[in-house]
Amino acid sequence: MPAETKILFVGDVVGGIGRRTLGALLPSLRERLAPDFVIVNGENAAGGVGITPKVAQQLFDTGVDAITLGNHAYRHREVYEYLDAEPRIVRPANFLRSQPGHGWCVVEHGGVRLGVVSLSGNLFMNPGRHAFAEVDAALHALKDQTDQVLVDMHAEATSEKVGMGWHLDGRVTAVVGTHTHVPTADARVLPGGTAYISDVGMTGPRGGVIGVKREQAVEALVTRMPVKFETAEDDSWLNAVLITADGPMHARSIEQVLEPAVGVS
Ligand SMILES: [Fe+2]
Ligand SMILES: [Fe+2]
Repeated sequence: MPAETKILFVGDVVGGIGRRTLGALLPSLRERLAPDFVIVNGENAAGGVGITPKVAQQLFDTGVDAITLGNHAYRHREVYEYLDAEPRIVRPANFLRSQPGHGWCVVEHGGVRLGVVSLSGNLFMNPGRHAFAEVDAALHALKDQTDQVLVDMHAEATSEKVGMGWHLDGRVTAVVGTHTHVPTADARVLPGGTAYISDVGMTGPRGGVIGVKREQAVEALVTRMPVKFETAEDDSWLNAVLITADGPMHARSIEQVLEPAVGVS
Protein backbone atom coordinates (compact mmCIF):
# COMPACT_ATOMS: atom_id res chain seq x y z
CA MET A 1 0.00 0.00 0.00
CA PRO A 2 1.24 3.54 -0.73
CA ALA A 3 2.27 5.70 2.25
CA GLU A 4 -0.60 8.11 1.62
CA THR A 5 -4.03 7.91 0.07
CA LYS A 6 -5.95 11.06 -0.79
CA ILE A 7 -9.71 11.12 -1.15
CA LEU A 8 -11.56 14.13 -2.55
CA PHE A 9 -15.20 14.01 -1.49
CA VAL A 10 -17.48 16.50 -3.24
CA GLY A 11 -20.73 17.66 -1.56
CA ASP A 12 -24.16 17.36 -3.21
CA VAL A 13 -23.83 18.29 -6.89
CA VAL A 14 -26.93 20.37 -7.69
CA GLY A 15 -28.34 20.33 -11.23
CA GLY A 16 -26.63 21.21 -14.50
CA ILE A 17 -24.92 24.20 -12.90
CA GLY A 18 -23.40 21.90 -10.25
CA ARG A 19 -22.25 19.43 -12.90
CA ARG A 20 -20.70 22.20 -14.98
CA THR A 21 -18.97 23.54 -11.85
CA LEU A 22 -17.53 20.10 -11.08
CA GLY A 23 -16.44 19.65 -14.71
CA ALA A 24 -14.78 23.08 -14.81
CA LEU A 25 -12.94 22.84 -11.48
CA LEU A 26 -12.02 19.16 -11.22
CA PRO A 27 -9.03 19.22 -13.63
CA SER A 28 -7.25 21.99 -11.69
CA LEU A 29 -8.16 20.39 -8.35
CA ARG A 30 -6.66 17.12 -9.60
CA GLU A 31 -3.46 18.96 -10.47
CA ARG A 32 -3.28 20.84 -7.20
CA LEU A 33 -4.49 18.17 -4.75
CA ALA A 34 -3.62 14.93 -6.58
CA PRO A 35 -6.48 12.85 -5.17
CA ASP A 36 -6.30 9.08 -5.61
CA PHE A 37 -10.10 8.88 -5.41
CA VAL A 38 -12.88 11.32 -6.24
CA ILE A 39 -16.26 10.55 -4.66
CA VAL A 40 -19.29 12.79 -5.17
CA ASN A 41 -22.73 12.97 -3.65
CA GLY A 42 -25.06 13.01 -6.66
CA GLU A 43 -28.50 13.05 -5.05
CA ASN A 44 -29.38 16.43 -6.61
CA ALA A 45 -27.44 16.03 -9.85
CA ALA A 46 -30.42 15.72 -12.24
CA GLY A 47 -32.39 18.98 -12.45
CA GLY A 48 -31.70 19.69 -8.77
CA VAL A 49 -33.45 16.58 -7.40
CA GLY A 50 -32.43 12.94 -7.88
CA ILE A 51 -30.22 11.38 -10.52
CA THR A 52 -30.69 9.62 -13.88
CA PRO A 53 -28.47 7.00 -15.58
CA LYS A 54 -27.37 9.61 -18.13
CA VAL A 55 -26.35 12.12 -15.47
CA ALA A 56 -24.60 9.44 -13.40
CA GLN A 57 -22.67 8.41 -16.49
CA GLN A 58 -21.68 12.04 -17.09
CA LEU A 59 -20.26 12.18 -13.56
CA PHE A 60 -18.33 8.94 -14.09
CA ASP A 61 -17.04 10.36 -17.40
CA THR A 62 -15.50 13.32 -15.53
CA GLY A 63 -13.41 10.76 -13.63
CA VAL A 64 -15.58 10.29 -10.54
CA ASP A 65 -14.85 6.92 -8.90
CA ALA A 66 -18.11 6.47 -6.98
CA ILE A 67 -21.40 8.32 -6.41
CA THR A 68 -23.31 8.47 -3.13
CA LEU A 69 -27.00 9.39 -2.86
CA GLY A 70 -29.54 10.31 -0.20
CA ASN A 71 -33.23 10.99 0.36
CA HIS A 72 -33.77 11.94 -3.32
CA ALA A 73 -32.37 8.63 -4.68
CA TYR A 74 -35.68 7.51 -6.19
CA ARG A 75 -37.01 10.74 -7.69
CA HIS A 76 -36.45 9.48 -11.28
CA ARG A 77 -37.97 6.10 -12.08
CA GLU A 78 -35.53 5.41 -14.92
CA VAL A 79 -32.65 5.14 -12.43
CA TYR A 80 -34.06 2.17 -10.49
CA GLU A 81 -32.59 -0.58 -12.69
CA TYR A 82 -29.34 1.35 -13.03
CA LEU A 83 -29.01 1.47 -9.22
CA ASP A 84 -29.22 -2.33 -9.15
CA ALA A 85 -26.81 -2.81 -12.07
CA GLU A 86 -24.09 -0.17 -11.53
CA PRO A 87 -21.82 -1.14 -8.61
CA ARG A 88 -20.21 2.32 -8.25
CA ILE A 89 -23.39 4.18 -7.24
CA VAL A 90 -24.74 3.71 -3.71
CA ARG A 91 -27.98 4.71 -1.98
CA PRO A 92 -28.30 4.68 1.84
CA ALA A 93 -27.50 1.26 3.28
CA ASN A 94 -30.31 1.70 5.80
CA PHE A 95 -33.03 1.91 3.17
CA LEU A 96 -35.19 -1.23 2.97
CA ARG A 97 -33.55 -4.24 1.34
CA SER A 98 -36.51 -4.36 -1.06
CA GLN A 99 -35.73 -0.88 -2.42
CA PRO A 100 -33.60 -0.58 -5.59
CA GLY A 101 -29.83 -0.38 -5.35
CA HIS A 102 -27.23 -1.20 -2.73
CA GLY A 103 -25.69 0.64 0.21
CA TRP A 104 -21.95 0.23 -0.26
CA CYS A 105 -19.32 -0.48 -2.89
CA VAL A 106 -15.57 -0.98 -3.19
CA VAL A 107 -13.49 0.94 -5.73
CA GLU A 108 -9.81 0.27 -6.35
CA HIS A 109 -6.95 2.51 -7.40
CA GLY A 110 -3.18 1.92 -7.29
CA GLY A 111 -3.59 -1.17 -5.13
CA VAL A 112 -5.80 0.61 -2.56
CA ARG A 113 -9.33 -0.64 -2.00
CA LEU A 114 -11.72 2.07 -0.85
CA GLY A 115 -15.09 1.08 0.58
CA VAL A 116 -17.81 3.71 0.15
CA VAL A 117 -20.87 3.49 2.39
CA SER A 118 -24.00 5.63 2.06
CA LEU A 119 -26.24 6.20 5.08
CA SER A 120 -29.37 8.23 5.79
CA GLY A 121 -29.97 9.82 9.16
CA ASN A 122 -33.11 8.79 11.04
CA LEU A 123 -33.91 12.16 12.67
CA PHE A 124 -36.26 14.26 10.47
CA MET A 125 -35.64 11.78 7.62
CA ASN A 126 -37.52 8.65 6.67
CA PRO A 127 -35.28 5.67 5.86
CA GLY A 128 -36.73 2.20 6.45
CA ARG A 129 -34.03 1.08 8.85
CA HIS A 130 -31.70 2.32 11.55
CA ALA A 131 -28.45 4.01 10.47
CA PHE A 132 -26.33 2.95 13.47
CA ALA A 133 -27.26 -0.74 13.25
CA GLU A 134 -26.93 -0.89 9.48
CA VAL A 135 -23.53 0.79 9.33
CA ASP A 136 -22.20 -1.90 11.65
CA ALA A 137 -23.61 -4.53 9.29
CA ALA A 138 -22.07 -2.75 6.28
CA LEU A 139 -18.63 -2.58 7.92
CA HIS A 140 -18.88 -6.25 8.84
CA ALA A 141 -19.64 -7.09 5.19
CA LEU A 142 -16.71 -4.93 4.00
CA LYS A 143 -14.23 -6.42 6.47
CA ASP A 144 -11.23 -7.94 4.62
CA GLN A 145 -12.29 -6.25 1.34
CA THR A 146 -11.08 -2.71 2.02
CA ASP A 147 -7.98 -0.73 3.04
CA GLN A 148 -9.91 2.53 3.56
CA VAL A 149 -13.58 3.25 4.12
CA LEU A 150 -15.50 6.50 3.60
CA VAL A 151 -19.00 6.85 5.05
CA ASP A 152 -21.38 9.51 3.68
CA MET A 153 -23.82 10.29 6.53
CA HIS A 154 -26.64 12.00 4.65
CA ALA A 155 -28.58 13.58 7.49
CA GLU A 156 -30.44 16.63 8.71
CA ALA A 157 -29.44 16.73 12.39
CA THR A 158 -25.89 17.66 13.39
CA SER A 159 -26.33 15.70 16.66
CA GLU A 160 -26.88 12.47 14.74
CA LYS A 161 -23.95 13.18 12.44
CA VAL A 162 -21.55 13.98 15.30
CA GLY A 163 -22.79 10.81 17.04
CA MET A 164 -22.05 8.77 13.91
CA GLY A 165 -18.54 10.23 13.81
CA TRP A 166 -17.87 9.03 17.35
CA HIS A 167 -19.58 5.68 16.70
CA LEU A 168 -17.19 5.02 13.80
CA ASP A 169 -14.04 6.70 15.15
CA GLY A 170 -11.09 4.37 14.68
CA ARG A 171 -13.10 2.00 12.47
CA VAL A 172 -13.26 3.94 9.18
CA THR A 173 -11.09 6.50 7.38
CA ALA A 174 -13.73 9.22 7.14
CA VAL A 175 -17.29 10.11 8.08
CA VAL A 176 -18.52 13.00 5.94
CA GLY A 177 -21.92 14.62 6.38
CA THR A 178 -24.11 15.72 3.46
CA HIS A 179 -27.73 16.84 2.84
CA THR A 180 -27.95 20.31 4.38
CA HIS A 181 -25.99 21.85 1.45
CA VAL A 182 -24.23 24.21 3.89
CA PRO A 183 -20.59 23.51 4.85
CA THR A 184 -19.84 23.34 8.57
CA ALA A 185 -16.67 24.58 10.28
CA ASP A 186 -15.94 21.44 12.33
CA ALA A 187 -13.66 19.39 10.03
CA ARG A 188 -11.15 17.48 12.17
CA VAL A 189 -9.52 14.11 12.69
CA LEU A 190 -11.09 12.41 15.73
CA PRO A 191 -8.73 10.84 18.33
CA GLY A 192 -9.09 7.34 16.87
CA GLY A 193 -7.99 8.55 13.41
CA THR A 194 -11.31 9.07 11.62
CA ALA A 195 -11.64 12.25 9.56
CA TYR A 196 -14.94 13.95 10.29
CA ILE A 197 -17.10 16.86 9.12
CA SER A 198 -20.78 17.45 9.88
CA ASP A 199 -21.53 18.78 6.39
CA VAL A 200 -19.35 19.12 3.30
CA GLY A 201 -21.80 21.56 1.67
CA MET A 202 -22.99 21.54 -1.93
CA THR A 203 -21.56 21.99 -5.38
CA GLY A 204 -23.97 24.39 -6.96
CA PRO A 205 -25.59 27.82 -6.81
CA ARG A 206 -24.96 29.66 -3.57
CA GLY A 207 -27.17 32.48 -4.89
CA GLY A 208 -30.30 30.42 -4.15
CA VAL A 209 -31.72 28.73 -1.05
CA ILE A 210 -29.80 25.44 -0.78
CA GLY A 211 -30.07 25.12 -4.58
CA VAL A 212 -33.55 26.55 -5.24
CA LYS A 213 -34.12 29.98 -6.89
CA ARG A 214 -34.21 32.34 -3.94
CA GLU A 215 -37.34 34.28 -4.97
CA GLN A 216 -39.32 31.00 -5.20
CA ALA A 217 -37.98 29.63 -1.91
CA VAL A 218 -38.62 32.91 -0.11
CA GLU A 219 -42.14 33.16 -1.59
CA ALA A 220 -42.94 29.68 -0.22
CA LEU A 221 -41.53 30.64 3.18
CA VAL A 222 -43.45 33.94 3.28
CA THR A 223 -46.80 32.78 1.90
CA ARG A 224 -46.86 29.19 3.23
CA MET A 225 -48.33 28.22 -0.14
CA PRO A 226 -47.02 25.69 -2.69
CA VAL A 227 -44.55 27.21 -5.15
CA LYS A 228 -42.95 25.50 -8.14
CA PHE A 229 -39.22 25.26 -7.42
CA GLU A 230 -36.50 25.61 -10.04
CA THR A 231 -32.76 25.25 -9.61
CA ALA A 232 -30.93 28.53 -9.05
CA GLU A 233 -28.08 29.34 -11.40
CA ASP A 234 -26.06 32.13 -9.86
CA ASP A 235 -22.86 32.17 -7.81
CA SER A 236 -21.93 28.50 -8.12
CA TRP A 237 -19.31 27.03 -5.79
CA LEU A 238 -17.66 23.69 -5.39
CA ASN A 239 -17.70 22.45 -1.77
CA ALA A 240 -15.56 19.43 -0.97
CA VAL A 241 -13.12 17.95 1.53
CA LEU A 242 -9.74 16.41 0.91
CA ILE A 243 -8.95 13.55 3.26
CA THR A 244 -5.38 12.27 3.50
CA ALA A 245 -4.99 8.78 4.96
CA ASP A 246 -1.59 7.72 6.30
CA GLY A 247 -2.45 4.13 7.19
CA PRO A 248 -5.31 1.63 6.93
CA MET A 249 -8.55 3.22 8.26
CA HIS A 250 -6.52 6.14 9.59
CA ALA A 251 -6.64 9.76 8.44
CA ARG A 252 -3.87 12.29 8.96
CA SER A 253 -5.86 15.32 7.84
CA ILE A 254 -9.12 16.65 6.46
CA GLU A 255 -9.17 19.98 4.66
CA GLN A 256 -12.12 21.88 3.27
CA VAL A 257 -12.06 22.83 -0.40
CA LEU A 258 -14.41 25.75 -1.00
CA GLU A 259 -13.99 27.14 -4.53
CA PRO A 260 -16.03 29.70 -6.46
CA ALA A 261 -16.72 28.65 -10.03
CA VAL A 262 -15.72 31.91 -11.66
CA GLY A 263 -17.13 32.23 -15.17
CA VAL A 264 -19.28 29.07 -14.97
CA SER A 265 -22.97 29.60 -15.70
FE1 LIG B 1 -28.84 17.23 -1.30
FE1 LIG C 1 -30.70 15.18 0.80
